[in-house]
Amino acid sequence: MSEHAIAVDHLSKSFGRNTKALDDVSITVDSGEMVALIGASGSGKSTLIRHIAGLVASDRETCCKVQVFGETVQSGGRISGDARQLRSRIGVIFQQFNLVNRLGLLTNVVIGVLGRIPTWRGTLGLFTKSEKRLAMEALARVGMDQYAGQRASTLSGGQQQRAAIARALVQQAEVLLADEPIASLDPESARRVMDALAEINREDGITVVVSLHQVAYAKKYCPRTIALRDGKVVFDGPSERLNTEFLRELYGADSEELIMDETMSKPGYQPDSEPKVSPEPTIRIPAHTPAIPAKQTVPAYAAE
Ligand SMILES: Nc1ncnc2c1ncn2[C@@H]1O[C@H](COP(=O)(O)OP(=O)(O)O)[C@@H](O)[C@H]1O
Ligand SMILES: [Mg+2]
Repeated sequence: MSEHAIAVDHLSKSFGRNTKALDDVSITVDSGEMVALIGASGSGKSTLIRHIAGLVASDRETCCKVQVFGETVQSGGRISGDARQLRSRIGVIFQQFNLVNRLGLLTNVVIGVLGRIPTWRGTLGLFTKSEKRLAMEALARVGMDQYAGQRASTLSGGQQQRAAIARALVQQAEVLLADEPIASLDPESARRVMDALAEINREDGITVVVSLHQVAYAKKYCPRTIALRDGKVVFDGPSERLNTEFLRELYGADSEELIMDETMSKPGYQPDSEPKVSPEPTIRIPAHTPAIPAKQTVPAYAAE
C-alpha cells in the first residue's frame, strides 16, 4: 500500500462539455513535505485541492483516484462513504471565510476537535477544559493567543488565516491543504501566514500543500513546486528551478501574473526597509523588459 501522504492518480474533472478543470493529473506528496501549487487563475489549483480534501468528486472514469495516507478519499467519481475519520486528518484553509464571524476566536479554534468528539457535544458547544487549553496553545503557536476572547469578525485577514492554522493544529490534521491563503493579504501579513505554515510543517511534521498565486512565495517557502496549466501538471520539481525564463516558457503570456512580485505594486515599498526578508532573491521582471503597470495586476488578483 502506498506510503505517500497524498497520491492523486489520473484525476480528471470536467465542468460541462468544454471545461476540463483537471486533465489527467497524477502527483504524489510524501509525508512531511511542503509543496507549492502554482498556476494562473483558472489553471485548476482550487479544484485539485478540493478533490484531495474529498469536497468534490472527479469525473467517473475508473482510473481517477485520490488517496491520503493510503486510504481512498475518492475513486471513479465517488467520494468514500467512510471518509469522516480520514477527513479529520486533513485540514483545509481557504482564501477567505475560514472563521465563523460572530463566534469568538477561541471557539473558532476549539471547533477543530469536532472530528474527534461525539457529535452531541460539538452541537451543544460543550468543550472540555483540556480542549480549550489545546486551542489556547495552538493560538499561542501562531502568535494569536492575546486575541482569544475577540470575535472573529474583528480580526484582520492575516490574523484570521493564522487562526485557521491554529484550528488545523487543534484538529491534529496531518495534511494541511491551503488554497491561496495569502491571496488577499498585504506582504507583511502574507509573510506571517507563510511563516506559520512553514513552522507547523517543520516542527510538527505536518504535510503542507499550499496554492499560491505568486511564484516568489513558492520559492521562498516551499522546496518543491507543482505547476498547473489548463488543468495539467506542467512542472513538478525543485522550486529553485522556477526562474523567469523557465516560467515564461511554461506559461507564455500568463507568466506575468505569476512572476509579478506583489511588493512592486506597493507605492511606498522600499527594498531595504525590511532586513529580515529572505536572502534568496525574489523573481522579478528583468530591467530590460517594459515595466508592467501595477494597475494591471490588481484586477487579476481581485477577480480571484
Ligand atoms: N463549480 C464550477 N463550475 C464550473 N466551472 C468551474 C467550477 N469550478 C471551477 N471551474 C472552472 O475550472 C477551471 C479551474 O478553476 P479553479 O480550480 O478554480 O482554478 P484556480 O484555483 O487555479 O484559479 C476554471 O476554468 C474554472 O472556471
Ligand atoms: Mg483558486
